[in-house]
Amino acid sequence: MSIEKLSGKVFLLITGASQGIGRQIAETFSTLVGDGSHVLLLARNATGLKETVDKLRTDLKVDYASVDLSIATPQELKIFFLDIIKTSFGKANPADFQLAVIIHNAGSVGDVSKSTIDMTDIDYWRKYYDLNVFSPAILNGVFLELLNEKTNVEKLVINITSLCGIQEMKTLGYYCSGKAAREMFFKVFAAENPQINVLNYSPGPVETDMLRTICREAGDLEIKTSFNEMRDKNGVLSTEQTVNHLVEVLKAKKYKSGAHVDYFDEL
Ligand SMILES: NC(=O)c1ccc[n+]([C@@H]2O[C@H](COP(=O)([O-])OP(=O)(O)OC[C@H]3O[C@@H](n4cnc5c(N)ncnc54)[C@H](OP(=O)(O)O)[C@@H]3O)[C@@H](O)[C@H]2O)c1
Repeated sequence: MSIEKLSGKVFLLITGASQGIGRQIAETFSTLVGDGSHVLLLARNATGLKETVDKLRTDLKVDYASVDLSIATPQELKIFFLDIIKTSFGKANPADFQLAVIIHNAGSVGDVSKSTIDMTDIDYWRKYYDLNVFSPAILNGVFLELLNEKTNVEKLVINITSLCGIQEMKTLGYYCSGKAAREMFFKVFAAENPQINVLNYSPGPVETDMLRTICREAGDLEIKTSFNEMRDKNGVLSTEQTVNHLVEVLKAKKYKSGAHVDYFDEL
């Protein structure tokens, strides 16, 4: 996919768009897409979603839906996603779009106070994986199924991953294992679908609620200190910096589909 396609008529779906990196992705990408493009934003907080919508270009068709991606069963999620996506397409035919983009950004860091030996609550595990691993996999399938027969629509799939998906960090067992599983799912997806542009983008340390939670609550003192020192020494990125870099990565397109590309990697 060439980045020029982003300036065509695009259908753009972003999860976790009520704040943080997801909101910034919506803001930045909405400046790039062409006339007639359509944006669909998902997260729980309807007020946050509305605030994001208010920051976007007014000439775009923008929909948002409040959804808790951690609570539904896979079956319910599938029906729900199909419903939202179909409603959002409205009368438009998916084949009218030149490019369909789905950005799996929503996520949570989980309980960062516990070491792995204490992570024995199966209900907590299930809920964590429902949000962070299962829901992106199912949403991805539903989205692609809807577009599948329209083979002329190019597709770009971005999974917002993390350094924690490839590097262990003490007391971040939920987060590290969830990010690793989610990233590997999208690598397999990329291998199976060479015609689709798939990117696992690791945004670096970014000043958001998630990072603040780790700084405040990490159970391991070494991890807690290193995150806080990074923040104190201005080693943390703004959402704008990392999303601008994501756009540069897409423009340069030097990555192999499915690859893990980090903010600090050379372009
Ligand atoms: N910040 C960093 O340093 C950093 C580093 C590497 C990777 N990342 C990744 O970047 C992505 C965005 O994180 P962020 O830093 O922007 O954190 P954030 O500010 O906490 O945003 C998380 C987003 O996920 C949504 N979300 C959380 N739980 C949800 C649920 N149950 N159902 C639906 N949506 C839910 C939130 O919306 P609602 O609360 O409205 O539902 C919010 O929009 C995550 O995948 C994260 O792992 C972040």
